[in-house]
Amino acid sequence: MVSGNIWTQLERPMRILAPMEDVTDTVFRQIVGSLAPPDLYFTEFLRADLFQPRFAGRMQRRLEFSEAERPIIAQIWGNDTRDYGVAAARLAQLGYDGIDINMGCPAPKLVKKGCCAGLIRTPLKAAELYAAACEGAQGVPVSIKTRIGLDTPETEDWIGFLLQLRPAALTVHGRTAAEMSDPPADWSQVRLAVELRNRISPSTVMVGNGDIRSESELQAAAAASGVEGVMIGRGIFEDLLAFRRSGASWVEQPREVVLETFIRHIELHRIYWQGERNFEILKKFARAYLHGLPDFDSLYREVMRYHDHDSLVALLQRSVQQPFPELK
Ligand SMILES: Cc1cc2nc3c(=O)[nH]c(=O)nc-3n(C[C@H](O)[C@H](O)[C@H](O)COP(=O)(O)O)c2cc1C
Repeated sequence: MVSGNIWTQLERPMRILAPMEDVTDTVFRQIVGSLAPPDLYFTEFLRADLFQPRFAGRMQRRLEFSEAERPIIAQIWGNDTRDYGVAAARLAQLGYDGIDINMGCPAPKLVKKGCCAGLIRTPLKAAELYAAACEGAQGVPVSIKTRIGLDTPETEDWIGFLLQLRPAALTVHGRTAAEMSDPPADWSQVRLAVELRNRISPSTVMVGNGDIRSESELQAAAAASGVEGVMIGRGIFEDLLAFRRSGASWVEQPREVVLETFIRHIELHRIYWQGERNFEILKKFARAYLHGLPDFDSLYREVMRYHDHDSLVALLQRSVQQPFPELK
């Protein structure tokens, strides 16, 4: 673990792989790291209540990471301060470089329970959760990831409030929760958040998020908004080499590299999750790996028919040498 505050130690602008449930597990983090590494990784969001001793073991596998995935921040969600204290203490003990609180997920059932983006309606609760996490974290930096509002942009009020807590870092996704992922992210609100930071909490490191797909877009967004870091989320599906500083994109890679990397992902998933995670999750990655191949349509359709690691690996191995006929 890096000693001191990781958020102040990385090169600017920090290039960050966004947390994504069912995507940024240890397997995908290792793959992205081996292709073109970001400066900082996040876990998927972790349910804070599952850290309570009565759920012993439930989180174990989700919490493991390799040294190659450092520096790494663990993200938690929930709305009980006791859970936050326990979760933060455990994450600190496991050697995570930071702990992040999810105050942005717009999933209606979580918002309704007052979790994630639901906390935008209950700022005092958000402050209590942040304090509980800091107490449990024993000096490991605590950050927050959020959106610019629930139904309408309320950047001045909501981001201004969070900055009064003086978090180590604050990630602002330039959309409201109601917008989900649909309209373009509003980076003018991210810029406004940076201005608020300059006035209210100069020590907080600001991260911007929304619609960034490449190193050059990342640099431009940081320069225009003044953030110290930028996250790439869905852009990694369009280009698995999104964090490269130079060179060819993913769709320009040779066929054998594309197929062998997907095979490595499938093998790592099998070895790592040992059946604890559904095989079907792997199919979500098929488009990201294969979309540049000339026989993508027919190969993708074939991949969707498979339901176990062995036969999918065999299919991909065969197709290294034998492309599918292209669909008309
Ligand atoms: C499949 C998926 C899962 C996500 N899971 C999380 C999560 O666990 N925690 C979180 O803070 N954000 C999560 N997000 C939101 C992303 O971190 C990011 O804020 C959002 O996708 C906007 O960035 P982008 O436009 O670069 O994709 C998820 C997004 C996607 C597409």
